[in-house]
Formats: sequence, C-alpha cells, structure tokens
Amino acid sequence: MQHFWESASITSIIDILRAKLFGAPAPTKPRLLPAATPLRSAPAQAPALEFARTPAQRAEYVAFLSTHFLTAGPNGPRSALTADTLETLVDAGARPLLYRQPAAAGVPEKLLGCILSAPLGKLYRGGGVRGGTPFDVRLIRDFCVATDQRGTGAGSALLLGVLRDCGEQGAPYGIFLKEGAPLARAGAPLRTSAWMWRRVAVGGPGGGPDVRELSLGVALDLVPIFGSTRPRLLYNRPVAGATSATATRFFLYDGFRGAALAAFTPAYQVHPRDGAAIIFQTGWLETGELLPTERVAALRKITDAAAEAMGAPWVWADRGCLGAAPLPAPWRADGPFHWYAYGWTADLYGDAELFLVL
Ligand SMILES: CC(C)(COP(=O)(O)OP(=O)(O)OC[C@H]1O[C@@H](n2cnc3c(N)ncnc32)[C@H](O)[C@@H]1OP(=O)(O)O)[C@@H](O)C(=O)NCCC(=O)NCCS
Repeated sequence: MQHFWESASITSIIDILRAKLFGAPAPTKPRLLPAATPLRSAPAQAPALEFARTPAQRAEYVAFLSTHFLTAGPNGPRSALTADTLETLVDAGARPLLYRQPAAAGVPEKLLGCILSAPLGKLYRGGGVRGGTPFDVRLIRDFCVATDQRGTGAGSALLLGVLRDCGEQGAPYGIFLKEGAPLARAGAPLRTSAWMWRRVAVGGPGGGPDVRELSLGVALDLVPIFGSTRPRLLYNRPVAGATSATATRFFLYDGFRGAALAAFTPAYQVHPRDGAAIIFQTGWLETGELLPTERVAALRKITDAAAEAMGAPWVWADRGCLGAAPLPAPWRADGPFHWYAYGWTADLYGDAELFLVL
C-alpha cells in the first residue's frame, strides 16, 4: 500500500535545530515537493476518483459526509455541510472528489471516500516587502473515508488524487488542518497550537462598543498593516470571483493603546450536545500594546460578537493567542491542531502565524 505522506520530503532535524538556534532563513519562495507518484495502474474493477460534476454526485457527497465524518467518534461533532453550501463552493471553484468502488460480480458499487479542495486565492507573507511574492493555494477539507474502509489505503488514494487534481487546476499548493496527533510522516507543520473553546450565550450583549465587525475588503486592507513587522505571517487573499463563497468574518477590537484583528470561520459542523453551529478562529493579529488582562477581555468580546453575528454559540479559538498564562474562564482547553503545507514547504518550521480567509 502506498502512503501519501511518504512522497513528502521531510525537513531534516538538523535544519530544524539550526532554525531554532539561529532563526529560520528568511522565507522567500515556496518549494514544491516532489510530484505525487501516480497511483499504480490498476485493473478495471479498482476504485477510481471522480470529480462530483453533477448535482446528484454532490448530493451523494453531502450524504456521505453526514454519515461518515465522525472526527471524534459517534458522539463527536457532525458534518453540517449542506448541498447549498457545496453548490456555492463549487461555483467559486471548489473541486469535490468522490472515490468509488465500481460494481463487480453481483457486488453493488460503493462510495469509499471523499475529499474537497477549494481555491483560497493568493498566499502572501507578512514582514513588509516580503509580502509581494504571492502564489495560488487551495484548502483541502472534508477529507473522509467510509468508517468500514479506514486504514485500507483509501485515505492515501484521496490525498494523492486531490494533489494531482489541484495540479491540474494550476494550483498545486494546498494547506490542510489536522486536529489531534501530528501526522508522523508529514514533516514539520506550518503551525502547531492547541484549541480552547467556550459556549457563548447567543442573544446576549454581543461584543460591546470597542468591537466591530469589518467587511472583507477592510479586513484585507488591515492585515498587511498589522503584519508589516511579522515575517512569519502567512495570509491569503481570495480570488475576486470567489469572495462570495468566503465564509470567514472579521472582528476588530479597538483598545486604548492597541488593537486586535480576528477571523472566524464556520466549521460546517454542529455540536453533539445541542446541534448548534461551531465556528473556529482562523486568524489573530495584534498591533500596538495590549496588556494580558486586556487581551483576555478583547478575545472574550470578539468571540461574543462573532458568535452573535454568525449565529454559532460554539467557538473554538487558538490557545496561542493568550500566551502561556493559565487558561482564563470561560475558556476550556481542547486538543492540539496542526496546519500542514500540502505539496510545498515554506521552511517556517512550525511557527508560522496564519491569518486565513476560508
Ligand atoms: C482521516 C481519514 C480520512 C483517514 O482515512 P484512512 O483510510 O484511515 O487513511 P489511510 O489508511 O489511507 O492513511 C492515509 C494517510 O492519511 C494520513 N492521515 C490520517 N489522518 C489524517 C488526517 N486527519 N488528515 C490528514 N491526513 C491524515 C495518514 O498520514 C496516512 O498516511 P500514513 O499512514 O502514511 O501516515 C479517516 O480516518 C476519516 O475519515 N476520519 C474521519 C473524518 C476526519 O477526521 N477527517 C479529517 C479531518 S482533518
């Protein structure tokens, strides 16, 4: 069985140590990893990947996810991707792929898995002039293998297939969120941190006078300003036609001596406790000076506002934005997460700051 990440070139430990001791070399160009090896030529009855071209195939995709996407077991969050959302995503260039075992000798056909890539537009770096080397990147998500087929190689086939498909779309670069344990063979992630979560009482006071929601355009104008002194910042700008599919919303806390800009994105999952929607933080940038207590209050007000505006009481935020201090109420600690570069490496050695518009 061929495993996807075996085809990834892994950053050597010497390089990582050198970067930790002396600082990473200023990131310049992304490096493409070696092209994915094509799947071994297979007999006609072998499972095959197909682009979910028709509404019927996309309905199959949504139904498959709602049955099999059990990231934390049967009592964990459930996929809430709807057919409408998938249509909007496809209109904006998303590529849902199905992996199907054809019917053979009286055995009916079977869907083995699915994966989706969506265009995120150009990726930019923070740190002043280095911001000017953009390249196209796609988000890999809704990666799922049928519960009775896991560990059989279907996952690797899907990962290889989406990488090849992205290449054919002219955007061989992707990014990918993995929760829980890091991937043993994938090399250093772009960012590793941990989640914290809270449930906001929606219908409450919202964010208050020092927090306001920003439009996509205003937020994108602010990101390079907030990021001008942050060479490890990676952020994306959606392609013009795809902005209608952008579900990320932006909130600014404007304090006396400092400000914080945050991005929150629907997880397209509902919480098993009450079936209510989940959002997660995909960016946090500060400028000026925020004292630790003010930062805690700012995050609380921002998440109050985001939950209210997005109609999603369950909020997951990056533990890293509160620093090393003990977790303050109302936050609860959750597990680790890792963002992986997919098909490329940015040589950032696991400590990139990400501000993602998804
Ligand atoms: C994640 C999942 C698709 C893997 O399917 P699988 O059939 O067990 O995968 P394979 O046995 O072919 O393994 C393929 C590779 O996928 C990688 N992989 C496993 N989980 C992964 C994840 N969550 N994200 C990215 N890659 C993952 C592994 O590195 C594995 O390669 P390796 O064994 O060489 O390290 C499957 O467990 C699943 O559907 N889980 C529920 C939904 C889910 O958690 N999706 C991922 C959301 S981040």
